[in-house]
Amino acid sequence: MSDRKLTNSSGIAYYDHEDSQTAGPRGPVLLQDFILQENLAHFVRERIPERVVHAKGTGAYGKFTVTHDISQFTKAKLFSKVGNSCRIFTRFSTVGGEKGSADTERDPRGFAVKFYTEDGNWDLVGNNTPVFFIKDAKKFPDFIHTQKRIPKTNLKSATMMWDFWSFNPESLHQVLILMSDRGTPYGYRHMHGFGSHTFSMINDSNERVWVKFHFKTKQEIKNFSHDDAVKMKGENPDFAQEDLMTAIEEGNFPKWTLYIQIMTGEQAKEFRWNPFDVTKVWFHDEFPLIEVGEMELNEIPVNYFAHVEQSTFSPSNLVNGISFSPDKMLQGRLFSYPDAHRYRVGANSHLLEVNRCPFAVNNYQRDGAMADSSQYKDAPNYYPNSFDEIKPQSAYKNFEEDLDSNHVANFSRNENDDDHYTQPGLLYTKAMNETDRQNLVSNIVASMKGITGPKRDEIINRQLCHFFRANIELGMKIAMALQVNIDSNMMSHSTK
Ligand code: HEM
Repeated sequence: MSDRKLTNSSGIAYYDHEDSQTAGPRGPVLLQDFILQENLAHFVRERIPERVVHAKGTGAYGKFTVTHDISQFTKAKLFSKVGNSCRIFTRFSTVGGEKGSADTERDPRGFAVKFYTEDGNWDLVGNNTPVFFIKDAKKFPDFIHTQKRIPKTNLKSATMMWDFWSFNPESLHQVLILMSDRGTPYGYRHMHGFGSHTFSMINDSNERVWVKFHFKTKQEIKNFSHDDAVKMKGENPDFAQEDLMTAIEEGNFPKWTLYIQIMTGEQAKEFRWNPFDVTKVWFHDEFPLIEVGEMELNEIPVNYFAHVEQSTFSPSNLVNGISFSPDKMLQGRLFSYPDAHRYRVGANSHLLEVNRCPFAVNNYQRDGAMADSSQYKDAPNYYPNSFDEIKPQSAYKNFEEDLDSNHVANFSRNENDDDHYTQPGLLYTKAMNETDRQNLVSNIVASMKGITGPKRDEIINRQLCHFFRANIELGMKIAMALQVNIDSNMMSHSTK
């Protein structure tokens, strides 16, 4: 007979898993059947809130290996020598859809990587796009509402989306990427990943540079066409999840090369745009890609819920030698993610297997729901104390900022902050080929045809102005396909 007894959650062996205890063979169920109670009670507590964005996703463990020396830029221990490596956990996701939504929806894709390093867990929580729709965290909830559902009908709405974009021309760059075939990647293996924001690196001599992170896929870029993406929604809504799981199961481990772009403090002052504006890229010919290392995904977590659903990534998980920048979106995110984790997973989410730092954690936080004492055991829970040897280290002081103003900047803008058109125009003319441009136009037209209601013409006209300002040909093609009469103001007029 097998030793593996059926037990309840307290390890108590029991006999009958299928029939409830009753008063006689056909009598009512007894309150004393604590196995029945435990199973029903646990079942109704199986769900936690889904992520408010990026709810549908998949994840895998793997390894990151440093292949090139960037120690002149950062004192992060991971990058101290070529050949260093660390375990990683990566979660990919769509953004707007719910937990059960289709993987091939037109949407940016989340690309979040947790590096378990000796300096602590470092999270790079990016997307498959180098830019974002907005550049101030204050706009994020409103923007996301337009990607979700109409409060009254609970339906998705192209009208809401284009209404918002047409009022926020800084979104144009990302809208063009979203509406290109990059908006429907062929699963998660065939796309690049970007830290998107400007971060900073600080070296041993306490010198700081600004940095952007890029993961380039080694599987080559591959996208669905609009029609194939729509078809796949019906055939296999979990296409991207299955594609990643199958590749790893077959030993066909997906890989990405990590690169950085570096901008010095002096270059930042000379840069044509705000270097901390997440709606802008840094051109590669001015700020070339510097190779850093390789990421490989090679292990499917043993349990999806425990590892993927409960994983918590935060842009504020930055380690010594890698820091943030004054990017307004990034600054908002530093607050919002740990806040979301405390609500979605709980005050001790950092103690779960996928989130916990495998190296020393020494602090005085204790208790709360689901506290697990295995890291701190019986150590004191207050500072200072006479018993432990834990001391703050001056080596970890924050970089001292030179602030360029001493007043609260409410709505001030600099020259070129409102240039929302030059980079989208260059994306259209220089980065896209003829097929990309044709698909872009037809994808935009398909989406804008969904704009309905009394404000339809107003929204379309406002958005067309932005396309015209980025590139006249782009504006003309969309206007003609939508059968809009081109107003003479359209090419010169903008909302802001
Ligand atoms: C997830 C907020 C902008 C990438 C989330 C979550 C929140 C959030 C609350 C859910 C976290 C959780 O429940 O674990 C915000 C706010 C933003 C912002 C307030 C702007 C101020 C961005 C940007 C990017 C991004 C610009 C990419 C460059 C992601 C990714 C996830 C995520 C990849 C999923 C992480 C995972 O796989 O668990 N965001 N977000 N977000 N966000 Fe953002």
